[in-house]
Amino acid sequence: MVPRLFKLIFLLLIISILFQNCQDKKVKIGFLLDDFSSERWYKDRDLFIRTAEEMGGIVMVDSALRDIKKQYDQAKIMLDNGADVLVVVPVNSEHASTIVKLAHSYDVPVISYDRLIQNCDLDYYISFENVEVGELMADYLSKRNPVGNYVIISGPPSDNNSKFIKLGQMGVLQPLIEKGDIKVVYDSFVNEWDTEEGYNHMKSALKNSNSINAVLCANDALAQGAIRALEESSLAGSVLVSGQDAELEAIRNIMAGYQTMTVYKPIEAIAYTAANTAIKLAKHEPVTHENETIWNGQKMVPAILLPSMVVNRDNIDMTVISDGYLKEHNLVQ
Ligand code: GAL
Repeated sequence: MVPRLFKLIFLLLIISILFQNCQDKKVKIGFLLDDFSSERWYKDRDLFIRTAEEMGGIVMVDSALRDIKKQYDQAKIMLDNGADVLVVVPVNSEHASTIVKLAHSYDVPVISYDRLIQNCDLDYYISFENVEVGELMADYLSKRNPVGNYVIISGPPSDNNSKFIKLGQMGVLQPLIEKGDIKVVYDSFVNEWDTEEGYNHMKSALKNSNSINAVLCANDALAQGAIRALEESSLAGSVLVSGQDAELEAIRNIMAGYQTMTVYKPIEAIAYTAANTAIKLAKHEPVTHENETIWNGQKMVPAILLPSMVVNRDNIDMTVISDGYLKEHNLVQ
């Protein structure tokens, strides 16, 4: 009788230790970035790691420096090192579907971070209302300048956000184009989110047309290049320019009157939401934020799309510089 009782106690002890170990086991997150050409990605990286660690996760992080194959190889290394979940900023929205397939062969879920991975069985998409980002830009500039010649410099087509932004811009501009109030005199996608590309495209636009009233640049890096080209033609400050990301240089240009506005996508909010979702997915717990779904060419992907906001000269201090954004939008308790 006594040895039996001992056996039972011993068994219970083992079970409770195993249970404790399972509970204590930290979630391993693989965070795959594209590049650091925009200053925001440093913030994304740092805030994501900090938040995930605060939530009890361990983060493996790597940047592919715009190399599609490198990103795939980095994903494989993370999976081989025991990643429980991958969070991916795809170098290329189409090619990254191979990362999703690979992760699934390890039974590991994938979250698409900021940029949507296309045509695959993606598990989750955490981003912003990217069509709205384009609408905010076009709406702001066209209210300031409802009649005139417009230039559109869009991001690279390899980033799905470029298409969303263009969609949003055209939704606002099309009725004004049809009315004959706005004429698009130059319209191009770029190869990379680069200042140099913004500069070169603006140079070409200035060659094509000698009267330009507004330039819709899809992000601040492109805007920075476009402003340099405008400066060389002594036009900086007299042509409206949009941007995205609220980068430091953009804030300076807005203060100086060279850039009209930028769209701020709160990094804290996306980093927090992605870390939280990654940990929940890895633990097979339900994701509690308000959900949406988005079509990625193969399926309706569960998504959390956060709001972004216009930053102009009048509200810089209240938005980007001050904190409290998360609480204001009920993203944290
Ligand atoms: C896009 C993103 C932008 C910008 C850009 C440059 O995917 O939507 O906010 O950061 O990448 O990296």
